Amino acid sequence: MNPEIAQIEQQIKNYTISNSDELESFRLQFLSKKGSIQELFKLMGTIPNQEKAAFGKSLNELKKLAQDTFDQAKEAQHSTQTTQVSAIDDISLSPEPLPVGSIHPLTKTLQEMKNIFYRLGFNIADGPEVEDDFHNFTALNFPPNHPARDTQDTFFVRKDDDPGIPDLVLRTHTSPVQIRLMEKQAPPIRSIMPGRVYRNEAVSPKSYFLFHQVEALYVDRHVSVADLKESLITFVKLMYGSDVIYRLRPSYFPFTEPSLEMDIWWGSKTTGKWLEILGSGMVDPNVFIAAGVDPEIYSGFAWGMGVERIAILKYGIDDIRTFYENDIRFLHQFI
Ligand code: DAH
Repeated sequence: MNPEIAQIEQQIKNYTISNSDELESFRLQFLSKKGSIQELFKLMGTIPNQEKAAFGKSLNELKKLAQDTFDQAKEAQHSTQTTQVSAIDDISLSPEPLPVGSIHPLTKTLQEMKNIFYRLGFNIADGPEVEDDFHNFTALNFPPNHPARDTQDTFFVRKDDDPGIPDLVLRTHTSPVQIRLMEKQAPPIRSIMPGRVYRNEAVSPKSYFLFHQVEALYVDRHVSVADLKESLITFVKLMYGSDVIYRLRPSYFPFTEPSLEMDIWWGSKTTGKWLEILGSGMVDPNVFIAAGVDPEIYSGFAWGMGVERIAILKYGIDDIRTFYENDIRFLHQFI
């Protein structure tokens, strides 16, 4: 073997590479364009013809040795670096927090409402969002063709002039679930019925075509207006604190007699205003008859609360549309 090749081979074998600087010096010395192996290639022309093949072969082997040595050292460096990193990692540190979602303010409000009503002894029921005319209106004592049906800006799913084919509507309130409950269950009944309702209203900061209500129905012997008032007042105190400012006003609904509405004072003492949160009343005897309950034996109260209104008051939100826009900056305030 050519003595120079043998010498370089020895140098490569003796080289210790223990860090990245040494790795780089090794590369410069043996593998770069100006390195010693390339220099030997340049001698090719001076080698006698009969020795050229052997010279070229051992030179190629030398180059391969240098490259393999380099690759192995580089690989070894890489793995010591990784072990070093994991060695300084403190495994007792908490991991980076993962981005998590937040609970929608309406879900949060609804959950709080449900918790309060569990405490007051109510269970939960639900009913369909596509309702027939009977449950949404007729059984609730809305007279046929009465303009009261229009006050609720109904979305019709099916409307036919043939009186034999019942209209189908997107329910305009959760009150029809009262009827469905009484149809299938004998009193005593003490249920809340949360859900979505729909009205064909122009979208504005105050109204939306979809919103949520929590209906309640309490039917038993001797249920009185005092029970209704006591339940409503207990609810607002648990929801907003015992210093909440509220008022109960007489009102009118076809399905209750007498009827009441409840308002909560919103804002500061001097610049605030009343915000209505619910309609309620004593179940009208006609409703009991339509649903198959004997009004001579039973009495009851009912209410329909607006969940958006209750959330607006709870969290100081001033535009109902923000509930449905899914703006992450809004939603993330409710983690
Ligand atoms: N359903 C009524 C509405 O959407 C609210 C309501 C009023 C519900 C009185 C009731 C009630 O149960 O007794 O405007």
